[in-house]
Parts: sequence; structure tokens; C-alpha cells
Amino acid sequence: MEKNVFEQMAKKYDTRERIELAKVISTEVKKKLQETKSKTLVDYGSGTGLVSLALTDLVDSVLLVDSSEQMLEVAKAKIEQSELNHAQVLHADFTKEQPTIKADIVLTSLVLLHIPETKTILQNLYNVLNENGQLIIVDFDKNEQVSHPLIHNGFSHEVLKQVLSDVGFKSTEIKTFYHGENIFAKKDASMFIAESMK
Ligand SMILES: C[S@@+](CC[C@H](N)C(=O)[O-])C[C@H]1O[C@@H](n2cnc3c(N)ncnc32)[C@H](O)[C@@H]1O
Repeated sequence: MEKNVFEQMAKKYDTRERIELAKVISTEVKKKLQETKSKTLVDYGSGTGLVSLALTDLVDSVLLVDSSEQMLEVAKAKIEQSELNHAQVLHADFTKEQPTIKADIVLTSLVLLHIPETKTILQNLYNVLNENGQLIIVDFDKNEQVSHPLIHNGFSHEVLKQVLSDVGFKSTEIKTFYHGENIFAKKDASMFIAESMK
């Protein structure tokens, strides 16, 4: 939805606030990565890798997928600098093309809000997953304070659960795990984590 925005902001994306928020997110995601050392993880809408490059020790490999080449350039530089040879990047947009990649775990953090067609992207992320795969979504709770033409103003747990069920996920657990000031379009907001099993 905001591809051009991210292309333009890539080199300045890693602000202190975003780094702090990403730490909160990766700490929460780590709790969901139990016995995953032999598993493959796709981070869809990875941006500069703030979340998933903190998870590389917990999985066999990480593929950072994003529709912004510039965001991936920043991620790639970090991967090379840290000599992370089991992390790679892929430029793709699964709202426009069918995925050909497979993974045991798909993570998507603060991305769903930027994609108008929620069901389409969730269906395609379902298709990325191997049997018994795990989808981890981090995003903002529904927030009536936020109103912006290009983004969803968060998600209702019940509505999202229904969409996940409709695309075929067997089960979903969702919980709010963090409240912060000025974290969503300059408004105070809360974030949820959803874990769905294929
Ligand atoms: C707010 S950033 C989140 C980055 C990272 N996941 C994090 O939590 O720090 C959203 C990212 O989603 C990407 N994005 C937006 N729409 C996308 C799409 N349709 N397909 C792939 N990536 C997309 C943007 O380019 C951007 O890098």
C-alpha cells in the first residue's frame, strides 16, 4: 500500500523509537519460537530486518521478504556486516504474485496494516507454509483514534480470527502484549500477537 513511502524512508527507517519497538516485538516473538532450531522462517514485510535479524539464532534459516528494494538493501548490508550466512533477502509482493517459496514459520510484523486486501495476503502466506506450519502476526489492535486513508486502523481480534479460519488455519490464539505512547500514527496504541497453525 505504501511502497513508495518505504522506498523513500529506508535509509532513515531505523530510528531509536523503531529499534526500541522492534526489540519489544522480537522479545514477544521469541516466546513463540520453541524447538525451532531446524525450522525455516520467512519474515514477510521484513523492512530493514529490525525484528527477524534478532531471531536468526533460534531457527535454521531466515528469508526476509519485502516489496521495497530499498528496505531490503539496508537489511542486506546488516546481514553482510554481521556475516549471517543463514539469512537472505527476497524482493517480492505476495499481493501481486503467487509465492513459490515454502517455510515452516511465517512472521509478519506491522505489515498487515499496510495491505488493503487482508484475506488475499493471509491466503498467500498460508500457501507459503509447509504442513503444520506456524503464522505469527504482530500488529496494532483496532484503534478508533487512528484515521488514515492508506492504512487499516488496527484489527479486531475476532474479525482477524475469522479471516484466518476462512483461509484455512486450524487454530489461532491472539493476545494484546504491549501498550505504548505515540506508536501508531502518532497515537497511543496497543499491539497484539497472533499465532495460527496450518
Ligand atoms: C512498518 S514496516 C515493518 C517492518 C518490520 N516488519 C518491523 O516490524 O520492523 C512495513 C514493511 O512492510 C513492507 N510492505 C508493505 N506492503 C507490502 C507488501 N504488499 N508486500 C511486502 N511487503 C510490504 C514495507 O515495504 C515495509 O518494509
